[in-house]
Amino acid sequence: MQPARGLFITFEGGEGAGKSTNIAYLQAHLQSRGVDLVVTREPGGTRLGEDVREVLLRLREEPVAPMAELLLLFAARAQHLQEVIQPALLAGKWVICDRFTDASYAYQCGGRGMSAASVRTLETLVQGELRPDYTLLLDAPVETGLERARGRGELDRFEQEELAFFQRVRDTYLQLAKESSGRYHLVDASQPLEAVQARLQEICEELFACWVPRHPVGR
Ligand code: TMP
Repeated sequence: MQPARGLFITFEGGEGAGKSTNIAYLQAHLQSRGVDLVVTREPGGTRLGEDVREVLLRLREEPVAPMAELLLLFAARAQHLQEVIQPALLAGKWVICDRFTDASYAYQCGGRGMSAASVRTLETLVQGELRPDYTLLLDAPVETGLERARGRGELDRFEQEELAFFQRVRDTYLQLAKESSGRYHLVDASQPLEAVQARLQEICEELFACWVPRHPVGR
């Protein structure tokens, strides 16, 4: 059944998977088709969330307890949902979010070894029944992504992790994609940009084909 609201689309992937470039591409493509769109990101998307992001990404001398990290992520998410995501969806807008709760499964469970049950509990508490309608997973070999990320300059607290951490993150994303194949669209991000964007266009057509707008958008 179609949701009686705008579509909630999330982008996921490892470091350096090209999310920003491809989100900008999808945004331009959807807007050219008349979609009223909000583009946002996690952690972040609100003033409070951006402050939490700064705290989470900054390098620290002391080790950060995985549960503290997870709770900070969900605190930012609660604010983001109340202030940005839910109002936009209820107004019939589409929301593209650069990372969402699947990143908590991939990074905090896959990467840090936390239990999926902790994330599921917080997911229900903070989101109620809201889940993304579509998730685009930009997948690339860990080494390729890290090389791109490291080429961008100074590394943040996550980017400093070892290779095995990012391999677990990637494996978890691929597992999530397998388990939720209706929601997930896998995009091979190691292909040339034109091929990735051709795939995004294909996915866009699927979104239009199965979405019944409350307020018609230009086609
Ligand atoms: P970004 O690289 O997409 O800007 O995200 C910043 C970092 O935050 C990235 O390394 C992944 C991490 N992150 C988590 O660990 N868990 C989460 O739930 C989210 C949203 C992000």
